[in-house]
Amino acid sequence: MSTHIAAEPGQIAPRVLLPGDPLRARWIAENFLEGAQCYSEVRGMLGFTGTYRGERVSVQGTGMGQPSASIYCNELIREYDVQQLVRVGSCGALSERLAVRDVVIAQAAATDSSMNTIRFQGYHYPAVADFGLLRSAVEAAEQAGARHLVGTVFSSDSFYHARPELTQKVVEYGVVAVEMEAAEIYTLAALHGRQALGVMTVSDHILTGEETTAQEREQTFGDMVTVALEAMLA
Ligand code: HPA
Repeated sequence: MSTHIAAEPGQIAPRVLLPGDPLRARWIAENFLEGAQCYSEVRGMLGFTGTYRGERVSVQGTGMGQPSASIYCNELIREYDVQQLVRVGSCGALSERLAVRDVVIAQAAATDSSMNTIRFQGYHYPAVADFGLLRSAVEAAEQAGARHLVGTVFSSDSFYHARPELTQKVVEYGVVAVEMEAAEIYTLAALHGRQALGVMTVSDHILTGEETTAQEREQTFGDMVTVALEAMLA
């Protein structure tokens, strides 16, 4: 086992879905994977491996925010040799081109996180998705008839912003949604030569104040998981 994941070598598949919420990990395992087995319950951050269309796939909760996601992604890559890391989760819309329940396919991730500030010491690194996964996700969204937008997201360390006006700055530069993990996942994947993508559904609209109900979130979460799984297998 690694420090935060209780799996034996080989128990985690080379392709991993990464929801922030561990209960979503269980929901995905129960509703999308065949023969799913739980491989870790450390800190309640559940992980499962099963099969999707005959291929082994794992789903691992990451917790919220880049420091937490970084712990799980580091261990998945370094201890379990995971090749594809696809974040699934929610985001807040910052663009009029988005409505609640839409799927955002994150081509790139801007960030205010100290993780990349410390890593790059004043250089500004562009955290980008793997192009093959991105292209496959777009094709899968088109196939599923899911309303989707490809764009740059803002991976913020804050859910409750001390200075909300700073978010407006990134919106001026075309950022379409805010979430809390993608930049670190993309950066780690790049460092280790792995493939990463983030596929998020809009749970709330920052500009209009519109929100989704729990039932709507479950339905749209399902569309997003299908897009993510199909992108990995393409
Ligand atoms: N901020 C960060 N992450 C989010 C949000 C938000 O407003 N909504 C859903 N995920």
